[in-house]
Amino acid sequence: MKIKNICCIGAGYVGGPTMSVIAQKCPEINVTVVDLNEKRIAAWNDENVENIPIYEPGLSAVVAEARGRNLFFSTDVDEAIDRADMIFISVNTPTKTYGIGKGMAADLKWIELCARQIARVATSDKIVVEKSTLPVRTAQALKNILENTGNGVNFQILSNPEFLAEGTAVDDLLNPDRVLIGGDIDTEKGREAMQALVDVYGHWVSNDHILTTNVWSSELSKLTANAFLAQRVSSINAMSELCEVTGADVNEVSKAVGMDSRIGAKFLKASVGFGGSCFQKDILNLVYIAKSFGLNEVADYWEQVIIMNDHQKRRFAANIVKTLYNTVSGKKIAMLGWAFKKDTNDTREAASIYVADYLLSEQAEIVVYDPKVTEEQIYADLDYLGSRTGEENRKSVKIVNTAKEACLDAHAVALMTEWDEFLDLDWEAIYEKMLKPAFLFDGRKLLNKKKMIDSGFKFYAIGN
Ligand code: UDX
Ligand code: UDX
Repeated sequence: MKIKNICCIGAGYVGGPTMSVIAQKCPEINVTVVDLNEKRIAAWNDENVENIPIYEPGLSAVVAEARGRNLFFSTDVDEAIDRADMIFISVNTPTKTYGIGKGMAADLKWIELCARQIARVATSDKIVVEKSTLPVRTAQALKNILENTGNGVNFQILSNPEFLAEGTAVDDLLNPDRVLIGGDIDTEKGREAMQALVDVYGHWVSNDHILTTNVWSSELSKLTANAFLAQRVSSINAMSELCEVTGADVNEVSKAVGMDSRIGAKFLKASVGFGGSCFQKDILNLVYIAKSFGLNEVADYWEQVIIMNDHQKRRFAANIVKTLYNTVSGKKIAMLGWAFKKDTNDTREAASIYVADYLLSEQAEIVVYDPKVTEEQIYADLDYLGSRTGEENRKSVKIVNTAKEACLDAHAVALMTEWDEFLDLDWEAIYEKMLKPAFLFDGRKLLNKKKMIDSGFKFYAIGN
């Protein structure tokens, strides 16, 4: 079976880059990315390719190459579904904010809506691919909906979780550690569908990097991978607090530990806390699943990763207040970086949001600079928390266009995101323009301690 037309529902951080790379690497396949959000689709179609809605290094060049040739962005969901042989579902699956499983389970509302729409529209056989991260056994629910509400056509459901990380999405897609495809491995039709997807990736990924499993293993592997990665960050963050009280340096500890080939060096960087759309959501989801099977010890074990992460964000903010003589009321604090990591404009679950919220509750005045995040997004993130009115947020938080401007007349600087440009700032000039004593809190352990102290700062870094 040869795939000629692909449709992807959801033009977000996962759907957009993934489909762009598939289109670039498979010029003979038509790829249409659809989304309900008209503004987002318009941005993907913007004449100036630098205006696409997602900032990822290298992505605009991929889009420029394929867009209009075999890569299309559209709001006509029905049409794209009908034409496709293969449909990726890449809509968001946030943590539920209501009802059973509130604050833990994944909200599958959008997934179900997609399934019902596919069932209603499809007049020919389709392979439906779960790209969104989903609780184990969601494929079964999808199958039930498709088979019971469809027009009698055949649906094959595959799970193909995405492992790309934001900021390195294009590179991760071009050179994946592995591509995971779960399907109905026990039937001929299931195996055919899996092979069709293997052949799509086969355009640029070697066979030994493509794993095929049953659907449940694939779904659970995605949650497991994210839980393990987040667990490493919480583990080193737990050590960072111990380093601070013992005089050890967390970077030295993580280097020494990471050189053990059994442990490995990656994901051992202490920080103000992990953010992003996946880690917290997926672990909460894992905890919920474990609890629902009565596996309370398993649930508690993974929940601790989140508890540690919340603690890390809170203690960073509390330390700022404590260091500034137990009050930040009316004091100006510059926050450098808002995104949850460098090289992305994504702010979902960013530590900066929670640190800002804490400081605002202590009546601080905040000035934010981030090279890629818009003012609109920063206010939306704070408003979403509901801790104060939108008007109050706009009064106490200002957004500026340079780091230098943010730090002018500030009592303290909090470095929140490890953007490269923060390394190259003229820190001595920044120091000169701040109120004294000038405090600098490095939430990423990015800056050179000695240099900062020599420049005059009262310097504090996570884990040191
Ligand atoms: C992805 C995954 O799909 C999610 O499961 C994973 O855990 C995080 O990453 P992402 O691409 O980052 O989500 O989400 P987002 O950027 O919010 O994009 C989802 C898009 O789907 C949005 O543009 C939204 O408008 C669209 N959508 C949602 C639809 O087109 N139809 C719907 O019914 C729901
Ligand atoms: C993650 C997974 O890495 C990816 O495989 C999955 O598909 C989606 O979730 P992402 O959230 O985009 O990707 O970024 P990631 O690089 O994993 O960083 C997540 C958070 O952890 C960031 O806030 C980052 O700053 C933080 N982090 C990461 C650390 O604090 N220390 C580290 O050593 C690594």
